[in-house]
Amino acid sequence: MKKYFILDDNKPFQPSTDKERREDETYQYKKYYSEIDRFYQIEKNSLITEYEIPFSLYIHRNLGFELLLKSSPSLPAKIPSDLFKTEGDIMIKISDIPLYNEYLESLEKNPSSGRNIKELKTIAIKEKSKILMKNILQDPRSGENIKESSKLVEKIATSIFNDKETLYDLISIKNYDYYTYTHSVNVAVLSIGMGITIGLPEDQVAKLGIGSMLHDIGKSLISPEILNKPSKLTAWEYQIMKNHVIDGERILLEHKYFPKDSFSAVIQHHEKLSGKGYPLGLQASKINLYGKIIAIADCYDALTTQRPYKPALTPFKALSIIIKEIEDYDNELLKIFIKMLGKIESGC
Ligand SMILES: [Fe+2]
Ligand SMILES: [Fe+2]
Repeated sequence: MKKYFILDDNKPFQPSTDKERREDETYQYKKYYSEIDRFYQIEKNSLITEYEIPFSLYIHRNLGFELLLKSSPSLPAKIPSDLFKTEGDIMIKISDIPLYNEYLESLEKNPSSGRNIKELKTIAIKEKSKILMKNILQDPRSGENIKESSKLVEKIATSIFNDKETLYDLISIKNYDYYTYTHSVNVAVLSIGMGITIGLPEDQVAKLGIGSMLHDIGKSLISPEILNKPSKLTAWEYQIMKNHVIDGERILLEHKYFPKDSFSAVIQHHEKLSGKGYPLGLQASKINLYGKIIAIADCYDALTTQRPYKPALTPFKALSIIIKEIEDYDNELLKIFIKMLGKIESGC
């Protein structure tokens, strides 16, 4: 099989000094991040062995993209059975997203896949939400997309309300790498799960859900160089990063479909109960329930996801880190969150 490594370009240059090595690393990362925008991460579990697909699959590992399955609409290939043994995230070309969307729709209707239909439908909702989030981050001013995201949030919430085990299907799948669109959907699923677990009524779960899905919409204004920088941000870059909260609020104020009650989810998700958060450094009593829930879900998802500068932590390690900063989070909510994840881990 033909292999395609973005970074395997046989460069004659061999760095020998620390300075050269640092410059070389920067070059490699720059190249990587200019390529990553050509690929889109899909959920491995959405792929059904022996199913014919009209788009190629790539594997993402070691800062490179390797062709895994060559396929096209004119020459569709079958999904190989050994695909699930492959380590790393499965990617498709950005241009193939519409074909993948069609595939998701077909598998929602296909009862003969030999797989659990409920699980497949759940995965399809999550995958469609990710595609929509990608579109929203690209075009945050589209009212249609925001309206559509409310519908998908309601679908996610309804499927968890109808069957609590759906939450297990939605959370148990963990991707290796961080993409804002995947992160947004993960945080929404965790927050909706929390909302349902603490007994919020359906309309409030929906408002919490839409706020959590769009909590990082302000990141659409940040350049990928800062967003994906593999090393520590400078003070100036960190300030730009922090602006995503205010920018998010500004973007959403333009949307009539975004509920007023959901703003706290966006504005307060980086506030900490200790008053050390941003943008306002609010104390515990001033932080709304949605802000408190999303702060926990947001931190947990970030810690359990790999970044160029840090490995993905196990759920246990991530929770240990959050517990160490207990003064920043709502104690009762954190206990419920840990219990909720515990149930998922044990498959209840
Ligand atoms: Fe954020
Ligand atoms: Fe976030």
